[in-house]
Amino acid sequence: MRILVLGAGAVGSVLGGFLAKAGHDVTLLGRAWHLDAVRRDGLAITGLWGEHRVTGLAVATRPEEVARAPAFDWVLVCVKAYQTAEAAALLPGLLGSPGSLVCAFQNGLGNYEALTQAVAPERVALARVIFGADLEPGTVRVTVCADDVLVGAPDARFPRERAVALAAALQASGIPARATASIVVELWAKVLYNCALNGLSTLFEVPYGRLLERETPRRVMAAVIDEAYRVAAAHRIKLKPAAAKAYRELLFTRLIPDTAAHQSSMLQDVRRGRVTEIESLNGALVRLAAAAGVPVPMNALVTRLVHAKERFMGI
Ligand SMILES: NC(=O)c1ccc[n+]([C@@H]2O[C@H](COP(=O)([O-])OP(=O)(O)OC[C@H]3O[C@@H](n4cnc5c(N)ncnc54)[C@H](OP(=O)(O)O)[C@@H]3O)[C@@H](O)[C@H]2O)c1
Repeated sequence: MRILVLGAGAVGSVLGGFLAKAGHDVTLLGRAWHLDAVRRDGLAITGLWGEHRVTGLAVATRPEEVARAPAFDWVLVCVKAYQTAEAAALLPGLLGSPGSLVCAFQNGLGNYEALTQAVAPERVALARVIFGADLEPGTVRVTVCADDVLVGAPDARFPRERAVALAAALQASGIPARATASIVVELWAKVLYNCALNGLSTLFEVPYGRLLERETPRRVMAAVIDEAYRVAAAHRIKLKPAAAKAYRELLFTRLIPDTAAHQSSMLQDVRRGRVTEIESLNGALVRLAAAAGVPVPMNALVTRLVHAKERFMGI
């Protein structure tokens, strides 16, 4: 397959690196501080899935440098959620024939809506990523993997066999992956987890497990989840599990204990002086809630406090 990674940071470099190693024709579009090293020495992949050096990747730091012929089979969008609108605006110029499809490997809400402003919904798939990756110039490290990458499309007109083929190509390349018929439900499940944990662990600067130790963060997490379920219900969005109480129990007894030592990527972002994705998590819930007339005071508070933290950190 011919593949363009749009936003070759941590996640995009893992995807592009493994797919290229498996023989696919991959172009990485990203920033010079990373891609100059890749151009010179190849991409080093380290960590959980072994040590690899991938050479022969095409790299570009400006969309005009991307060789568009033959047309890409896939453009994999791997930018942060607050960069999706900007990335979406590039897509019409990067996609070729109608067979060129888009798949977004991102966290948060609103990415699909931003992408489908620029590309027809029947050409856009989404992926849920639940492995972790860190980037240094020329090197990406796979840190954890909690579950397979899931690939699916919200629009029933999307050619399902292409989502299945992309998941199979990822799996064959060494990235655990499978196709799903319920990608929206799966992405919301990750949104719930991120909304409960990322903001609080960023504000308190603690790994997830520490949030279970005190009554106040437990109550905040419970309220964030209850509000999120009310927002989803108001928009007729199906969640898994169906009841907030069941999700809270799952969160407190399994999901947090299983990732107790994990530091949120949001905390890493503020420590590196980078904007957070809070607006596509709790902030997105606040906007959805406003549209449906549902009060979500705890999600609003978490959003405002994370923005205050960004400002304290000079971001
Ligand atoms: N990293 C993880 O462990 C992980 C795990 C699960 C899910 N996710 C999700 O996956 C998504 C990507 O995360 P990430 O950690 O891979 O982010 P990242 O390392 O910041 O990678 C995105 C890269 O794309 C670049 N970029 C942004 N806009 C661009 C454009 N228009 N043209 C070219 N390059 C562009 C960024 O450069 P600048 O920074 O200079 O803008 C950055 O280098 C996020 O939604 C994240 O929440 C990440």
